[in-house]
Amino acid sequence: MAVALSDEEFRMWAEWLGEELGHRWGPERREILRTRLEPRRAALGLESFDALLFHLRFHPEREAERARLVPHLTNNESYFFRERGSLDVIRDEVLPELEERLGPGGQARLLSAACAAGEEAYTLSILAREAGRFTAPGALRVTGVDVDPAALERARAGTYTEHAFRGTDAAWRARFFDARDDGGWEVKPAVRAPVRFSDANLVQDGWWRAVGPQHLVLCRNVMIYFDEDAVLRAARGLWEALAPGGYLFLGHAESLRHVPVPFELHRRPGALFYRRPLEAA
Ligand SMILES: C[S@@+](CC[C@H](N)C(=O)[O-])C[C@H]1O[C@@H](n2cnc3c(N)ncnc32)[C@H](O)[C@@H]1O
Repeated sequence: MAVALSDEEFRMWAEWLGEELGHRWGPERREILRTRLEPRRAALGLESFDALLFHLRFHPEREAERARLVPHLTNNESYFFRERGSLDVIRDEVLPELEERLGPGGQARLLSAACAAGEEAYTLSILAREAGRFTAPGALRVTGVDVDPAALERARAGTYTEHAFRGTDAAWRARFFDARDDGGWEVKPAVRAPVRFSDANLVQDGWWRAVGPQHLVLCRNVMIYFDEDAVLRAARGLWEALAPGGYLFLGHAESLRHVPVPFELHRRPGALFYRRPLEAA
């Protein structure tokens, strides 16, 4: 039998999800939230969504339950070579500048923040390979982080269906992926070698310490889900995650225009990006 999500329950859930994940749940999406929560309520045999929230806050196994719930609340939509304008700037301007600045023996550290199932992280690895940048062993480190443990598991597996290749052609795919018997495609070992994945919640304090200072961060198509306070929390974290002189690219629909964090804004045809200044202000 369907269980309703009352006004008061919706209010408490929206507040909790804003605080925990940064996500904005407006009242118009109440029924969507109910359907996302329902599988976990039913699996635990709880009589209400209030009881599910109580479980997530206070139960001794709340962390495990949270890991089961989060995949129901995220949108992992992504594909290889998404938003090419930014990728062209990275290939033509950012990687050459980093190679010159870091010098021979330097390691470029690139981060896909909110990496979903890894498409963006592997895109960065492929982009550097195609451009002939940071090709020496150990010269490139790509890290993908996400709050969704199920997405991270898929990222580590590195196997994809047609859907992930809608921004690329078959010849490109054959260069960087091996065909599998089940019809899927698996990222080739050389593309995989510099890439690592770990969990991080971009609106919680301190996540950046685990990944170390980055020269380039892609944080695309996640802030669109955040409320205003979460955008500010995420922007502060991204600043901390960047080394001085580091580059930050957001998604097309995202901006830090009203965010009081002292990034420099740079515009190029088809792309804009932010930089943490080389010299501290
Ligand atoms: C639409 S995907 C974007 C994937 C990729 N960046 C792209 O642009 O194609 C959004 C991702 O953000 C992740 N996400 C949502 N809230 C997050 C948070 N608070 N911290 C880290 N990742 C989060 C989701 O799990 C999801 O994988």
